[in-house]
Amino acid sequence: MFWTRKKNKKVTEDHGAATPNDPQLLRAEVDQIKWWHPIDLGGGIVTPGIDVTPARLAEIRMPDDLSGLTVLDIGAWDGFFSFEAERRGARRVLAVDSFCWDGGGWGTKKGFELARRTLGSRVEDKWIEVLDLSPDTVGVFDVVLFLGILYHMKHPLLTLERVASVTKRQLIMQTQVDMLAVDRPAIAFYPGSELGGDPTNWCAPNPPALRAMLETVGFRKIEILSKSFPDHVPMETLNTIRPNHVTLHAWK
Ligand SMILES: C[S@@+](CC[C@H](N)C(=O)[O-])C[C@H]1O[C@@H](n2cnc3c(N)ncnc32)[C@H](O)[C@@H]1O
Repeated sequence: MFWTRKKNKKVTEDHGAATPNDPQLLRAEVDQIKWWHPIDLGGGIVTPGIDVTPARLAEIRMPDDLSGLTVLDIGAWDGFFSFEAERRGARRVLAVDSFCWDGGGWGTKKGFELARRTLGSRVEDKWIEVLDLSPDTVGVFDVVLFLGILYHMKHPLLTLERVASVTKRQLIMQTQVDMLAVDRPAIAFYPGSELGGDPTNWCAPNPPALRAMLETVGFRKIEILSKSFPDHVPMETLNTIRPNHVTLHAWK
């Protein structure tokens, strides 16, 4: 699996197809999709996502009340965190992604679209590469979610520069870390499949490097919430992630 790089790809708006009122039909549609996020669609139907997303939701400490705020969810995939931000009152949520919405890799956009229809959500979507994020392409957002993405990027500092450019107030981030025995800022580079056997993983900083990079791109306050998240992904279901994660909040 390799990340694709496609520019200016158009994503068709998916407000057309009706959501089945019949739980059996909905269940059948859900069963045809490969899910990352477990999403409660109501009526006793929870999508069979392989990620431990509810536990991660507690970990990231998303503000309970997002009333009046705008939220950008980078690498949203099935959209669990986007829908949760909307549920918490965000006035506008934009979900963006590229690779997993193309259908050539781990998943598709079908889960996001089905969940949005079923939940009656107004979350907006845009196909865009992380490195193409800018105030011109997407605008700026009060709160930016950047969860599980940095280690997939070849250019970590440039990536954080782009992320900072679209963050007005607060960044909520979760990522893989490495080089934990090193006190100075250090970044591990994985030219092959060293991290979890997954060639789409490129690098992982240690916490001092993460802090220093965030400060370099303009965040003035950084709070590391947790330095380890051993049960992030059950290894028996997805052999791509190693259990060293940092969750943090950063403010402009
Ligand atoms: C490990 S998943 C994390 C999904 C979700 N944010 C979460 O925390 O559950 C990584 C996501 O980032 C997206 N992604 C990876 N590289 C990307 C890039 N260069 N541009 C846009 N999205 C990217 C993938 O398509 C995928 O949806």
